[in-house]
Amino acid sequence: MAMNDPADTGESYATLELFQPPTAHKKQFRDALDRALAKLDQLVPIFGLRNPRMGIEDSCNYAFCTDDEWVASFWTGQLWLAYSLTGDEKFKNSARARWSYFQRVLENPAWHDHDLGFLFLLSCVADHKLTSNQKARDMAIRAADFLAARWRQPLPFVMCWNPMQRDGADFAARKTRTLNIDSMQAMSLLYWAHRQTGQQSFLDIANMHNETGIKHLIRDDFSSYHCYEFDPTTGNPIGGYTHQGLADESCWSRGQSWALHGLAQSYLNTNKNAFRDAAAGLADYVATKLPKDGVPLWDYDLPEDRYPYRDTSAAAVTAAGLYTLAQGFGHGPEVAKYTDLADRILIGLVENHDIAANPEAEGLLNEGAAFVDLGRANNMLPYGDYYYFEALMRAVGHTEFFW
Ligand code: GLY
Repeated sequence: MAMNDPADTGESYATLELFQPPTAHKKQFRDALDRALAKLDQLVPIFGLRNPRMGIEDSCNYAFCTDDEWVASFWTGQLWLAYSLTGDEKFKNSARARWSYFQRVLENPAWHDHDLGFLFLLSCVADHKLTSNQKARDMAIRAADFLAARWRQPLPFVMCWNPMQRDGADFAARKTRTLNIDSMQAMSLLYWAHRQTGQQSFLDIANMHNETGIKHLIRDDFSSYHCYEFDPTTGNPIGGYTHQGLADESCWSRGQSWALHGLAQSYLNTNKNAFRDAAAGLADYVATKLPKDGVPLWDYDLPEDRYPYRDTSAAAVTAAGLYTLAQGFGHGPEVAKYTDLADRILIGLVENHDIAANPEAEGLLNEGAAFVDLGRANNMLPYGDYYYFEALMRAVGHTEFFW
C-alpha cells in the first residue's frame, strides 16, 4: 500500500511495516476482500454524494446521513481504503467530493465532539497520507485543534459529548463530565497532528486521555464501562455507567472493541507498553466471552432470557484491533495468540454475515446492533462495513491505515 506522509517521523510504523499476521485463512480473506472491493465499485455511482447512516429494517438498503452525523466518514474511509488498494481515481474523486461536508463540520462548532476523530481520520488524514494533499492536511489539523481544545481542566480527558436539548437536564449535565469509551478511537487524530506539527500538547493530551481511560473505563477483569463520570470541580472519579450497553456493570461489546482497537493503535503511535498491555487485557477478556461462531452478542453479559442480537460491528472492530495488537507485539507467542482470535471472529463474519455477494446489498455485513434499547438492531452499519474492510486488509498483511 503506497503511503506518503513526508512529515511523519516514522515512529513504530517504520519498523513494523513488514508485519504479516500468521493467519490460517489467507485465501478466504483475500476472496472476501475482493468481494468487498467489487461491492464498493458497484456502490460508488449508487451512493453519489450520500453517506450511509444505518441499514433500513428488513432490507439490504441504507438510509443516508443528514447533517451532524458521527457516522458520516465511514463510507469515505472505505473509499480511501479502496483507493489505497487499487489506485483507481474513481475512489479518490468520490472521497474528495465529500470535502465540502467536512468543511461544514469545521465551520459548525455545535457539531464538534469526540467524533471529530472518526470524521477527520477517515477523510482528511486518509487523503493526506495517500496523496500528500495540503488542503486535507490543514483541515485535519484544524479538527485536531478543536478536539484538543475540548480538554477542560481539571477533568483528565477530552470532553466527549455535548449536552443536547433532547437529553433532559440530568443526562445533559452528566454528559459534560463523562469520559466515554468510544473516544479512545479519536486519539489517533492527536497523535497524527503531533507528528505533523511537533506540537507537544497534542501528544500530552492524547496520552492523558488514554491513561484516564485505562484507569477508569477498564475494570480489574478487563471488561469495560461504556462511560465514566467525574466531578467537574475536582476532576475526581465518581463512577461508571452505561448508555448503550445492557447495564451499568455489564460489558457493551462495541465499547470493548473501541478501546481494544484504539489502545492497540495508540501503542503503534507511541510505543507505550501500558497501552499494549491494556489492549491485550481487553482482548483476553473477549476470548472468554465469544460465542462459538465468533461473533459477539451486543453485550457480553446478556442473560439468556434476552433476544440474542449479535453485533457484527463489534466483531469487525475487535478483529481489526486484534490484528493491530498482533502487529504491536511483532514477534513472540502473542502474535499467534491474537491472530488466532482475530481469525476466529473474522471467519465468523465471512461465513455467516458477509452479504457482499448479494447484488442487491448496499453494504458488507448484516446483523449490526447500533443501539438495542432504542430498537436499532439487526441492521447493516457503515462502521461495521468500514472495520470489516480494514480487518480483511490487516488479515492479509496490510499495515498502513489512517489512525
Ligand atoms: N460511537 C457510538 C457507537 O458506537 O454507537
